[in-house]
Amino acid sequence: MSNISDKVAMVVAGARPNFMKIAPILQEMDRVGLTNVLIHTGQHYDSKMSDDFFEELQIKMPDFNLNVGSDSHARQTAKIMELFEPIITQSMPDILVVVGDVNSTLATALVASKIGVKIAHVEAGLRSFDRAMPEEINRIVVDHISEKLFATSPDALINLRNEGIDDKAEMVGNVMVDTLLNNINRALERPITHSIDKGNFGLVTLHRPSNVDNPNILGEIISALNVISQSLNILFPCHPRTRKQLNNFQLSDAITIIEPVSYMDCIALEANSKLVLTDSGGIQEETTVLGIPCLTLRETTERPITVTNGTNFIVGTKKDNILATFEQVMNKPRLQAKLPEFWDGKASQRIVSSILRSL
Ligand code: UD1
Repeated sequence: MSNISDKVAMVVAGARPNFMKIAPILQEMDRVGLTNVLIHTGQHYDSKMSDDFFEELQIKMPDFNLNVGSDSHARQTAKIMELFEPIITQSMPDILVVVGDVNSTLATALVASKIGVKIAHVEAGLRSFDRAMPEEINRIVVDHISEKLFATSPDALINLRNEGIDDKAEMVGNVMVDTLLNNINRALERPITHSIDKGNFGLVTLHRPSNVDNPNILGEIISALNVISQSLNILFPCHPRTRKQLNNFQLSDAITIIEPVSYMDCIALEANSKLVLTDSGGIQEETTVLGIPCLTLRETTERPITVTNGTNFIVGTKKDNILATFEQVMNKPRLQAKLPEFWDGKASQRIVSSILRSL
């Protein structure tokens, strides 16, 4: 290994689900003395979707903020590429580290690959096998142009093998779990600011365009939630995209809509809930670690280990299916999750050691 003091890693974050993934990686880079430059693309810009996460997770101020904001996929991706190219070209880091599957991940990886900067993809190999999902395209492209693929679970390694790129892959574990384990005790000590009956409410999150932009699908989900709310109060922190669509629907009084919650509030609410209903990716993993039943309101998951080893049920978006699984979960003893190997809070250490070995 050459001297690390002259090596530079550039790390990218852009949207809400990225921030809790970069936090432990940056922390570990600082610990071992690897210089890091943080790029925020500005894909998410509301304080509740971005700033609050930086503050709570004590992430340093970004070295560059591209402030791209919301737009169509093509325009958002193109804007990030255009603004990112001069920054990376000027500093030519030794490695670009990207996480997850959002448009910021794709855009910055594409730029780096064209100018010959090595890319490390954290959370590689996840596949929903649904190419109508924008994140699926992002995952596939980023994995194929990256030099280092950091996988969270054995199924991800199998996917990478099936695509002929597992020679670049390593199983390192899950950085979301690092952040969860680092923060859950502190999160549970904080006073709960929402009026909930601890242990006896359902937590709902919903933001996928395929669910919330389609009135028929959103209608099915809302009518299932209205029925569920007759037996369990529901707390629904609402993504800005979803909020815009909800006005067209009648919601029961037992469903409380609130602003998006911060990371600490979110994990505390998950841990204190009776069950979670969500279309998020990361929440499927967090509920597995916390041992809370999760009903995933999608037809597929890119995180099957949360179903085979965890507490997750893929229920789709049809009212009857959601309600049938809800009844089943309410009437059965809780599942005990068998946590995947390496979901031990040390993924960032493995990632940073591997990066250092390769520089
Ligand atoms: C993005 C990610 C998705 C991730 C989600 C988490 C992609 C393709 N999708 O979806 O994988 O699960 O973030 O939230 O990258 N908006 C605001 N304020 C903000 C951000 C967004 O009002 O700070 C509104 C805007 O109206 C915007 C819409 O939300 O048009 C969607 O934002 P966008 O970043 O395009 O995608 P998300 O749906 O958030």
